[in-house]
Amino acid sequence: MSVAERAAGGGSGPEMQSSDDGIAFRCRSLAVDLGIADYKRRIIENLDIEVPRRQFVCILGESGVGKTTLLRVFGGLVPAAPGSRLELNGQAISGPPQGAVFVFQNYAGSLLPWRTARKNVELGLEETLPKAERQRRAMVALEQVGLADRANDYPRQMSGGMQQRVQIARALALEPRLLLMDEPFGALDAMTRENLQIELRRIHQASGATIMFITHDVDEAVLLADRLIVLRGKPAAVGLDIVSPLPKERDQITTKELPAFLELRHTIYEMLRGHGTRA
Ligand SMILES: Nc1ncnc2c1ncn2[C@@H]1O[C@H](COP(=O)(O)OP(=O)(O)OP(=O)(O)O)[C@@H](O)[C@H]1O
Ligand SMILES: [Mg+2]
Repeated sequence: MSVAERAAGGGSGPEMQSSDDGIAFRCRSLAVDLGIADYKRRIIENLDIEVPRRQFVCILGESGVGKTTLLRVFGGLVPAAPGSRLELNGQAISGPPQGAVFVFQNYAGSLLPWRTARKNVELGLEETLPKAERQRRAMVALEQVGLADRANDYPRQMSGGMQQRVQIARALALEPRLLLMDEPFGALDAMTRENLQIELRRIHQASGATIMFITHDVDEAVLLADRLIVLRGKPAAVGLDIVSPLPKERDQITTKELPAFLELRHTIYEMLRGHGTRA
């Protein structure tokens, strides 16, 4: 069976069930319009996806296709067009859902400059956790992104990549059920990026969070994902939707040597270059 034939089913019947069936996101005939009045444009149309809880989904597609827009719709920051059906855990999405955490594409300025790295990571925990517990969680998260030794530095003392890692630590410290990540490793050097990929995969396995992760890096997507979705077209729809055949345990060397890794990588590249057929 070829990789393309292992395409993920998007659900069969036209009717959606609202009972708890283990599906995190369900969208049917999703359409999204951006802009206003004469400048209004349809960015996404006829997009159907079902994402089971705990799945690690990577979203790919050429620049400007609508990846960030889709993530913002999932996060309740952008409304779907009338006629779309969009649910999170069986409920229509009408605003940012509880327990969802974003890591945005453009991190610049997202850290508070008057707070240290650790205090920035503690930001979302201050109302819910006592001081000792939130300090412990912040330190664990900084350790996970390789910045435990920079906990007392201020953002201005850190490089762009380090600031991005603090932002990722802040998201991890919240122990989210749903993590919406928009090119979170884009600003990182290759070595740090490779370490964080494996760390994020490990955190996902341990936490069981549902992760929607946008990337331009095909190798990163194939290494990380349980499921890969390529957006394509104008307006955008699902061009390819594949469940990864790779084993759950992954590393930078042996996983990338597996025939299934290379086959999947090949399929994704073909689709991104416009040679693939739509799933
Ligand atoms: N507020 C807006 N009003 C009108 N059009 C918009 C708005 N924001 C984004 N767009 C358009 O929507 C389309 C999709 O943008 P989006 O940011 O989702 O793309 P993307 O796939 O994330 O691209 P990239 O890989 O470059 O980040 C683009 O053509 C963009 O110009
Ligand atoms: Mg984007």
